[in-house]
Amino acid sequence: MHGPGARVRHLISGVSHEAPLFYEKKMKKFMFVLAFIAFNSFADDVADGRAKADTACALCHGPNGVASMPGAPNLAGQQAIYLSEQLKNYRSGKRQHEVMSYIAKPLTDAEIAQLAAWYSAIKVNVEAP
Ligand code: HEC
Repeated sequence: MHGPGARVRHLISGVSHEAPLFYEKKMKKFMFVLAFIAFNSFADDVADGRAKADTACALCHGPNGVASMPGAPNLAGQQAIYLSEQLKNYRSGKRQHEVMSYIAKPLTDAEIAQLAAWYSAIKVNVEAP
């Protein structure tokens, strides 16, 4: 009962009871840091996308993504995945449009992600007539 074996068993049982809690706390901290990094890089993308959109897109799609030119679609609140897919399609030639094919041609993947982040981050309120 009181030999060295019991002492070892006692130590092991102490470790195995406390270890999960210890790792859970560590894991929570780690997840928080990951979420923090992800949020910050998303915020950076939105800011970079906005700056790019102001100079290259706002003329037709409006400063807040509500089209200022008849014939140009609204982009505000559109899904990021849809926006980046369309821009990549214009760039590759899969989707053709005189203006947009020309505009999308020089865009990098990073710029497309930033523009998509910006337009998708704009909040829109929908009200049926
Ligand atoms: C000179 C006007 C003009 C400018 C500048 C312009 N666009 Fe467009 N954009 C259009 C028009 C017109 C269409 C509709 C094209 C079509 O029918 O395929 C369009 C379509 C799009 C679409 C597809 C939307 C959908 O609903 O499928 C996206 C995405 C888009 N533009 C993003 C951008 C971005 C990002 C920029 C800036 C880098 C930009 N556009 C600059 C005129 C413009």
